Amino acid sequence: MRKFFKKALKKIDKLSGEQVQDLLEELTSENELLEIVLNSMTDGILVTDTNNKLVFHNRRSHRLIPFSSGDLDDSIIWEVIDDDDISKFIQKTLLNAEKVSEEEFTIKIAGISKTLWLDIMPVVREGSIQGSLLHVSDITERKKRDGRLRRAENLASLTTLAAGVAHEIKNPLGSISIHIQLMQKSLKRDKQLKEETSGKYLEILNEEVERLNNIIVDFLFAVRPMNPTMKKSDINKVLTDLLEFVKYELEEASVTIECELQEDLPKLEIDEKYMKQAILNIIKNSVAAMPEGGVMYFKTVRDGDFIHIYVCDTGTGISEENMAKIFEPYFTTKQFGSGLGLTVVYKIIKEHGGDIVLESVENQGTTFTINLPVPQSGKRLLDWKG
Ligand SMILES: Nc1ncnc2c1ncn2[C@@H]1O[C@H](COP(=O)(O)OP(=O)(O)O)[C@@H](O)[C@H]1O
Ligand SMILES: [Mg+2]
Repeated sequence: MRKFFKKALKKIDKLSGEQVQDLLEELTSENELLEIVLNSMTDGILVTDTNNKLVFHNRRSHRLIPFSSGDLDDSIIWEVIDDDDISKFIQKTLLNAEKVSEEEFTIKIAGISKTLWLDIMPVVREGSIQGSLLHVSDITERKKRDGRLRRAENLASLTTLAAGVAHEIKNPLGSISIHIQLMQKSLKRDKQLKEETSGKYLEILNEEVERLNNIIVDFLFAVRPMNPTMKKSDINKVLTDLLEFVKYELEEASVTIECELQEDLPKLEIDEKYMKQAILNIIKNSVAAMPEGGVMYFKTVRDGDFIHIYVCDTGTGISEENMAKIFEPYFTTKQFGSGLGLTVVYKIIKEHGGDIVLESVENQGTTFTINLPVPQSGKRLLDWKG
């Protein structure tokens, strides 16, 4: 339809008065339809021109954002918004044009607290900026739901962890109890404890207490709420820093490193310390799975909204049966394993909004793939071809 109008406009001087009138009526009704659509949306839409003056605002935007009373049309947008945080954010973003920006806000309207998601993007037409589009959505319900889900998930894993701890501490507690009984017996029999036996028993008691302590420390690390500080980071750099750190250990274990890192990846919102911890835990397992040495291969690649990090080894692999269990707390096939390494990995990756996928062939090797979401900004510019 728009093509038709463009054509008609080009020869408008050749149209009769009636034809121009028809054209205007068509245009008006198309405009009305657009307005009806925009006004029926459940999200708020606001449009400004290049001078940051409000040229369009749909009905919903008035329910979501507090506006000051008075005429809104042709006003500088941040001057008519009656919320300091939102107003400042819009001003900052618009004065720094060309950038896509988004943020979450909590506002109180009539005593009810709402969480809003606001994203701002430039409207580009044939290569030049025509103004900005502000998109507001009410994410209050979604946030509540996510919170509930996460709590339920946490609670479930807490129960398995607690059951695991109960199981884990049984052995050392049993051993402590037996050795105390042995000491009591020998005390009864000999009326005193010989230094030789008491020394031996006390040493065992000491070891078991140490074991108990380790179980509790690991448990606390696994259940303590994580407090990640997310920062825009270059994932390739995080990986190469980490590899630099473990290089000698891998060399010692006759493991060679191979890397294929995609250049110019977008930055990710991550907590570098936790992310390094997660990848390190995977590397440690790989090294343990290659007692005779082997190859560790690392790859990063972007695919749409995700960055994939592959960590592969040429180790023993994992049996079909164990594959389903390895992320479970306390699952280990090692004599002195804690079984918490991958539980922590899983928790860290989930905390970053990502997930982790496992592939393994016995006697050939294992690949862990970490998928991390690319943050929204920098991803799109709204392009409008007239
Ligand atoms: N790369 C791997 N190759 C073979 N087996 C693995 C690998 N990664 C993990 N596993 C298996 O998963 C189990 C659980 O790992 P993890 O949670 O780190 O605990 P732990 O290392 O203390 O055993 C290991 O005991 C091992 O059987
Ligand atoms: Mg481990």
